Amino acid sequence: MANSGKMKRRDVTNLLGLGLLAGSLPIAIAACRSDPAPEAQSEASGEFTTLGSMADLIAQGSLTGTVSGQDLIVVRDSSLPDAALAVSPVCTHAGCTVDWDRGQELFICPCHGGRFNPDGTVSGGPPPNPLTTFEAKIEGDQVMVRV
Ligand code: FES
Repeated sequence: MANSGKMKRRDVTNLLGLGLLAGSLPIAIAACRSDPAPEAQSEASGEFTTLGSMADLIAQGSLTGTVSGQDLIVVRDSSLPDAALAVSPVCTHAGCTVDWDRGQELFICPCHGGRFNPDGTVSGGPPPNPLTTFEAKIEGDQVMVRV
């Protein structure tokens, strides 16, 4: 009876050892992988590009440019003074190019009167979807976008 108790304890110890070994196997395999971690891949998928200066954005009310073949308009929303918002100027109704109306703080489509908020969401008119948006940031005096 006493032996039986020792065997059980040894069995449990062996199983525990196998469990620890099996548990550490994925860590050992992961440590040997040569491809980058998912965070590193998303970090490398696109870099921020300077579209213009903050001084020009303030003076002109908007910045336009093309990054990697993508036309962009960057504007500011008075309710978010520390942020820059980047959108595609292509209207989602029929593809006309929207204009930024600084006074109304709206993108206005000249073709059928579509209106979009600074963040690209539809404010009125026939457009079925928001403008395509892109990441934008202000770094020092530089306005940067990532497409
Ligand atoms: Fe912009 Fe029709 S193309 S509202």
